[in-house]
Amino acid sequence: MAREKIVLFKVFMSEDVLQPLNEVLMSGYIGQGAKVDEFEGVLGDYFGNQQLVTVNAATSALHLSAHLLKKPSADGSWPGLQPGDEVLTSALTCTATNWALLANGLKLKWVDVDPDTCNMDLDDLERKLSPATKLITIVHWGGYPNDLDRLKEIQTRAEEQFGFRPPVIEDCAHAFGSRYKGKLLGNHGNFACFSLQAIKHFTTGDGGVLILPDEEMQRRAKLLRWYGIDREQSGGDDFRCEEDIPEWGYKFHMNDISATIGLYNFPHVAACLQGFRDNAKHYDQVLQGVDGVTLLRRDEWADSASWIYTLKVERRLDFMRYMEEQGVMVSRVHERNDKHSCVAESVAPLPNLDKLSEEMICIPNGWWVTGDDRDYIVDCIKKGW
Ligand SMILES: Cc1ncc(COP(=O)(O)O)c(C=O)c1O
Repeated sequence: MAREKIVLFKVFMSEDVLQPLNEVLMSGYIGQGAKVDEFEGVLGDYFGNQQLVTVNAATSALHLSAHLLKKPSADGSWPGLQPGDEVLTSALTCTATNWALLANGLKLKWVDVDPDTCNMDLDDLERKLSPATKLITIVHWGGYPNDLDRLKEIQTRAEEQFGFRPPVIEDCAHAFGSRYKGKLLGNHGNFACFSLQAIKHFTTGDGGVLILPDEEMQRRAKLLRWYGIDREQSGGDDFRCEEDIPEWGYKFHMNDISATIGLYNFPHVAACLQGFRDNAKHYDQVLQGVDGVTLLRRDEWADSASWIYTLKVERRLDFMRYMEEQGVMVSRVHERNDKHSCVAESVAPLPNLDKLSEEMICIPNGWWVTGDDRDYIVDCIKKGW
């Protein structure tokens, strides 16, 4: 019998979701309500950090983070983002990361990648810092954490030189459950944006979690994810009509349908994550030294959620064709963003990314990849392409 194709992504949906979801669907209340509050409590306990809000996508979390930073701080230490301000960012990511910045009127300045991790090259970041740098956006590629202590040092140096500290937005869309030096991502004092989209480790159908750097930002995020309306205010003489809105916002909130899916998928997250991690660890061991293959670096302080397993191969196009023929789905997963004509004005030399884009490829490593599947994948690679 022919082997079933081994896919790169799969939706994890627990049957436990079905009955409670049905109850919510038929309850007469499916907007943002008690289920969202309950889900936020569960997420707060998981992260060990209640300074969060749920939203309808990581894209919204990214968009809202940059928007929140437009307001100058009361003590004058932060001037606020202005239209046309410069953000240092990586081009190797989902368009969501950078398009959310564009939507806020920011100007992208590309930082090269570290070809050993696919994360931002922090040496290049340091070189490109200038008084014009108002924001830094990083992506934890495949869940592999960036060196966040080094990043803090770079922020401190910028502050000493330029008089303000450029904030950091962490795109944690691949990184639910990743740890840096033992601490879960989302707990390092930055804006942290997680995705609960269909094919992530943990899904609510679509959804996102935004962890905020302080209580005031959380207060504003709660308001601005829903037009700026204070849902806790009782209202005036008409229950539908809000009181004054001091700061306008968006429609980015999560609803009770997504939150219910989240509540009943959540108990399975640990097992899902284990599947991703075990398969990645296995590849790390057995693909070491294989002809034509270079593995990414593993630092002792990094505990990746391994949402995707990226490796570098010689003659990448031949590798892709060969693996497809063997029934194994492979992909680069995200096109480099700087290639698109809508950002042509930001073009800059990125020699590491040029080389990496020719070599990188992701192979299946999710919870659905069985021991037999991964042995087959390894055998295919070892036989050569
Ligand atoms: C790196 C990265 N950032 C952001 C996003 C956007 O996430 P969402 O679909 O939840 O908006 C994705 C989605 O795949 C992603 O891979």
